[in-house]
Parts: sequence; structure tokens; C-alpha cells
Amino acid sequence: MIRYSSLLTRRTTNAIRVSQRYYSQSFDDPDLFRTRALINGKWIKKPDSFPVRNPSTQEIVAKVSDCQLSDYEDAIVGAKAAFDEFRHTSPQERSDMLENLGNLLIENKQDLARLITLENGKPFADALGEVLYSASYFRWFSQEAVRMYGTVIPGPSGNKQMFSIRQPLGVVGIMTPWNFPSAMLARKVAPALATGNTCVVKPASETPLSALVIGWLCQQAGFPPSTCSILPTSKTPEVGKLLCGHDLVKKVTFTGSTRVGRLLMAQCAQDSKIIKKVSMELGGNAPFIIFNDADLDKALNGIIGCKFRQSGQTCVCANRIFVHKDVYDEFATRLVKRMISTFNLGDGFNEKVTHGPLISAAAVEKVSQLVEDAKQKGAEVLAGGKKAEALGPYFYRPTVLSGVNESMDIFHTEVFGPVASLVKFEDTEEVIRMANNTDVGLAGYFYTQDINRAQEIALRMETGMVGINTGAISDAALPFGGIKNSGLGREGSLHGLEDYTELKSIVLQA
Ligand code: SIN
Repeated sequence: MIRYSSLLTRRTTNAIRVSQRYYSQSFDDPDLFRTRALINGKWIKKPDSFPVRNPSTQEIVAKVSDCQLSDYEDAIVGAKAAFDEFRHTSPQERSDMLENLGNLLIENKQDLARLITLENGKPFADALGEVLYSASYFRWFSQEAVRMYGTVIPGPSGNKQMFSIRQPLGVVGIMTPWNFPSAMLARKVAPALATGNTCVVKPASETPLSALVIGWLCQQAGFPPSTCSILPTSKTPEVGKLLCGHDLVKKVTFTGSTRVGRLLMAQCAQDSKIIKKVSMELGGNAPFIIFNDADLDKALNGIIGCKFRQSGQTCVCANRIFVHKDVYDEFATRLVKRMISTFNLGDGFNEKVTHGPLISAAAVEKVSQLVEDAKQKGAEVLAGGKKAEALGPYFYRPTVLSGVNESMDIFHTEVFGPVASLVKFEDTEEVIRMANNTDVGLAGYFYTQDINRAQEIALRMETGMVGINTGAISDAALPFGGIKNSGLGREGSLHGLEDYTELKSIVLQA
């Protein structure tokens, strides 16, 4: 067993100070801690590097190779050459490789979770959950790789037959976020490879280690060189522009903010000679409605996970919690009580910790400003409401705001932080109007025991995904994606597979 501290000394001369608290952290397999770029099957140390910091402590945990545009150019050209071969592998071969990959993630889940906690800050138990979630995409798409069905269509006459088949696209440019550095990469890379495409991945600069390790495991799983290059870089806007504008890149997929998604779509349209497919998983502002007939125990469990998972930093987190006036006070009291008795904020490697830091000082500042604006406009702080400076500059206390309304910035902004904003409502028309009063529509949730109401609200909610009596909707088998400014396309599920293919119609005259 290799100690994390000696691992850093051995493998990364650039790894600077590592706190004593990590000395108990061990990597079972030191090869999983990778800091070089994976370009066309080779692990390349670049002359420049950039630091990866632990958001709990701000310590530098690694310095990773900083790829330039020329490295991306090489990876794209390599991926195109690899595609010309890889597209002819059989679906069963691709399925086997993906299954191997999923199994490797599970076998190495402890180390992969350590990487996630180190660079993202989330509690270790949550990081372990993310690794399994990530593996579920590789496993699910391994089963789907062999089912890339087309259709046989009745022809206009007996001697004319019509078919549609699905074919891979080519090189896919993949840009992944820091909030689920392993799972969001899996959700894009798995269907891309399942359908015979090749990938060039730009991981979030905050969390490249969790991406690089998947590149390593891809190699162990049997994927040929250049099918999945992973290039850490600090030059995010320049690389985004290159991927969008490059004529060899046939699809660009991105998870992140609506602002950046819009920019990338414009670049795909303007800078490239070819029309590209895009998948955009963008921002949310999820409504979470608790009707007066809701099972409050279940609603409470639901909101704890849905609002505070990953300290509120998921795009499907409940952002506005609408509570019927009849149950508002009881729900608010119980929520605060539950948080006080069960939440423990701190360093994700501490076993007692349930909630970790935010990703950056800027994230803390944004949350702080939204809370201050709400307070000035009349919201009451029932819990938290301030930074947890004693723990470090990236910590914000889990917060409950009561009396939130449409005049407040927090109503219209994706908080991406641990703030539960409670909005009181009286009737269905009012709450549906307020829930839909946003330009985004990713996820929405509600709790009721009335089946007729459940059907009505599910249909009227302007979101791509709806949870009824649950705050947990994410699953590899379910289409994930939004409407309005929450983006384009679906990930996961059969539809997530189709988004990495081109549909070809064939007419055969006998
Ligand atoms: C996200 O926040 O982008 C994804 C969350 C999930 O898959 O549950």
C-alpha cells in the first residue's frame, strides 16, 4: 500500500505541500494518480503545468501538464485517424471494452473517490457514490452498444425496401465540468465510444485528475490508442473555440453554464466549415413543490438530498422550494432541525463530514451576494446565512431562507450553493406560474399524494425532467437534459446514445 504523501513525492516532483491530514490517505494503485496529458495513447509531460488545489485547504495537490492548442490539434488529427479504424470494430468488441472499463472503475473505486475528494472537495462517501454512478454509465452503454438498432420501413411498392441505420459521427470534442468530474465525463465518453466515435476530452481545469485516471483505465480496458485523448489545460476559452471551430470535430458536447453554452454554440455555427452536432447540458433553476397533502417525512428526505447534495453544486439541485401555506411553518421548522442535527461541514476526508466546501472563492462570493440581496428584500435567515470562514475561504454554511419571493435575485438565479430558499404559496395556479417563471427548465420536483394532481403538474412543469415524490432522478437509463435555456440534447438512455450517431436512410430498389 502506497501512502499518498510518498506517492506525490515519487510521481509528481511538482506536488508541493501536502497537509499532514492526507498522510493517512493511501492509494492502493499509485498508477491511478496521473498528471501527464494523454495524447494519442501516450502520456506526455508538457513543459508548462498548472496547479490542482484541494478546495478544502487550498493546498496544491498536483501540478498537471498544461496542454496548448497545438496538442489539441495533434489529438484531433490522431482521433480522426483512429476513428477510421475504430468505427469498424464490432459492437460486441466495444461493448466488452466498456464493460471492462466499468468494472475497472468499480475495482478501483477507493482510489478514484480519493481523487475526487482531493480535487473537488466533496465528502469521501459522496465521491464513492460518484464513482459508482460513473461506472453505471460505462456498464449501461456497454449493454446498449450492441443495440444500436435502425428501422425497416414499409416501402411504397413490393420491390422497393426502405431502412434507416445509425452510424457514428467521427471525432467528438468533450468538455466536462468540475462538479461531477468522473460521472459527467462517463456520461459523454461512454455513448461516444459505444457507437464507434473517438473522443478528445477537455476536463475542467479544477478537476483534471479524475478525468486522466479514466484515460488510464480506458487503456487498461483495451481501447486502442487515440480513441480517447484527455488533455488538461488552463486555456479553457481558447480550447473551446478550437474544438468548436475545427472541421475534423463532428460534435461538441458541453456541461456548464448557459452563458458559455451559448458562446460555444455560436462558435460551432460561425467558426467551423461543417455544421456540427451539439449537446448542451446547461444551467437549471429547479422548482421543488410541496403540496399540502404531501408526505412531509418524504419531502424532507427529498429536499435534504436534492438541495444539499454536493453542497448545492449540481444543476438539478432544488433551487426554489415552494411550500403550501398549510404546511410551511412545520416544514421550515423540521428542515432547520434536521440540518442542525445531521449536517457537518468540513474537509471531505473527515469521516464525520457530510458537506464539503464550494469550488472557489468566487462561488462563495456569489452565494453570499444572493443571500444578502434576499435579506435586504425581506427574506429571513432561519439557518446559516454566512460564510464559514473558520473552516477556510471556500466554505459557506448550509442555509435556509424563509419568505423568498420573485423580487429577489435568488429566485431567478441558479445558486450553485447550499441555500434552501423557501417560497410560500396558496394554490396550484399560483405555484405553477411561479415554478415556470424562469428562462431555464432542467429538473423540477413535487410532492403530493393525489394521483390526479401528480399527472397534471408533471405535464404542466416546464422542465426536461420531473421527480414526483422523489428528489433523486439521475440514472444512466433515464434521458437527462433540459428545455428552454437549459440546453439541447439528452444524455444517458437510448436517446443519449442516439445523440452520438447520424441516422441514415437507405432505399433499395430490387
Ligand atoms: C449535473 O449537475 O450536471 C449532473 C447531476 C446529475 O447527474 O445528477
